[in-house]
Amino acid sequence: MFNKMKLWKTSKDQDVQDDRISQILAHPIPEHVAIIMDGNGRWAKKRTLPRIAGHHEGMKTVKKITKSANRLGIKTLTLYAFSTENWKRPKNEVDYLMKLPEQFLSSFLPELIEENVKVSTMGDMNRLPASTRRAVDHAIEETKDNDGLILNFALNYGSRSEIIDAIKDLSSDVKQGIINEEDIDDECFSSYLMTKSLNDPDLLIRTSGELRLSNFMLWQLAYTELYFMDVLWPDFSEEHLLEAIESFQRRSRRYGGLLGEEIQ
Ligand code: FPP
Repeated sequence: MFNKMKLWKTSKDQDVQDDRISQILAHPIPEHVAIIMDGNGRWAKKRTLPRIAGHHEGMKTVKKITKSANRLGIKTLTLYAFSTENWKRPKNEVDYLMKLPEQFLSSFLPELIEENVKVSTMGDMNRLPASTRRAVDHAIEETKDNDGLILNFALNYGSRSEIIDAIKDLSSDVKQGIINEEDIDDECFSSYLMTKSLNDPDLLIRTSGELRLSNFMLWQLAYTELYFMDVLWPDFSEEHLLEAIESFQRRSRRYGGLLGEEIQ
């Protein structure tokens, strides 16, 4: 009897969730969602666990949220997995974080392939351990023809160094006469960034209550809707993603201009 009640409650909860998703799908969905996945360390500390246990739990959340994003029809999900500043952390933590992509892909790649997900990365891969690079390259190769959700990992990524590298490449092309200085505009500059094949994010989510961008996609976030939430990344669930998308759908994006009804 108890189990029946529990089952009934679970299916009722699922109905409520499905209704909520149907409502959301009736409105424009952010095509590109970027997430600063923060709070793994605090999640572990609250449980007197080592910080790496928080990162392990965070990896499980990545799996859940990838599935949800795919289900919602989000086109690109960019996840800040390791920043150029994260090398300053204790060696055991860096070593663990470096192994996570391999761990994630060794168990999850078949599902990503089946779900038509395309894996991509941005950041300087040269400094990653060879086995991590191999696992990531293998996943990119195996999913290169998929045309569903793009799962883009920012690995050893820093926005300032991305911008500086773009400036160097662009100025070298100007010197060689490949680009005319007068032709440099937003679109031209964007094509020198690591995100050249992606649209700018429509929605940025940062978990754990911190209110900053931490050197993440500074150029690309110029007109992105920002959503900060207190939940720690390992506790982030589909409900939190839905909450952020609902907030996005209530906003009016003007890109510095006015909406039709605001023009007198
Ligand atoms: C910030 O939290 C989080 C990171 C530096 C790492 C994020 C990585 C994951 C969530 C897993 C990535 C998974 C794959 C598949 C690559 P923090 O440690 O700074 O948290 P704190 O601010 O509470 O200390």
